[in-house]
Amino acid sequence: MSRVPTFRLDRLLANLGYGSRREIQALARAGAIILDGARLRAADERIPVTRDLPERLTVGGVALDPPPGLVLMLHKPTGVTCSHKEAGPLVYGLLPERWRRRDPPLSTVGRLDKETSGLLLLTDDGALLHRIISPKAKVAKRYRVELARPLAGDEGALFASGTLMLEGEDKPLLPVELVAEGPTRASVTLTEGRYHQVRRMFAAVGNHVTALHRDRVGRLDLPADLAPGAYRILGEAELAQVFDEGR
Ligand code: URA
Repeated sequence: MSRVPTFRLDRLLANLGYGSRREIQALARAGAIILDGARLRAADERIPVTRDLPERLTVGGVALDPPPGLVLMLHKPTGVTCSHKEAGPLVYGLLPERWRRRDPPLSTVGRLDKETSGLLLLTDDGALLHRIISPKAKVAKRYRVELARPLAGDEGALFASGTLMLEGEDKPLLPVELVAEGPTRASVTLTEGRYHQVRRMFAAVGNHVTALHRDRVGRLDLPADLAPGAYRILGEAELAQVFDEGR
């Protein structure tokens, strides 16, 4: 028995943001939708939604958008917010306009602060999103940090101790690994994602983070050729790297 989900064409395209079901029906009637070289004129036809559908189906001569189950990596620049509704530039504004009308919607996997740059995952797969951010999954996130003042030398031991309590919280942080990379530079690797965690950790030791960049999630590195503001669809192998606990 096939496990490939099938969707009505009008529902699939409406959920991908191509318009209302009525508009999709009109597109189909006009012969604008082609599957495997043949015009699909019946919008109620059920079609198997496979990963390769964009290679087989065109709308108005253009390849179909990626079907649901989409995972992206974005090089988040500073100055954009991980939110669907806040004022100012949003990460979703870096994606194709139609993708903002998808249902299920694309959401960021956790958040990076407005002034933090680096590797940000987005997905429309809610179960996957929770699998990545769940504290149980212990997915490591590595940040490169620039500091206002030189490291004192004892931060690494304190961060690794599992006893550091952030202001206003009642549970200590899980151990964080710090690697000094210069007098005012370090990388930190953490498995939690508390609010402004890295900035607050350094504030707790009397320092101040002047720049913060995430370059790794699990064992998935931000590719050097992915420019700030650019994104890429994640393949199965790259997604597996997110959950890879090896070093
Ligand atoms: N810690 C922070 O302080 N900010 C981020 O964006 C991520 C981790």
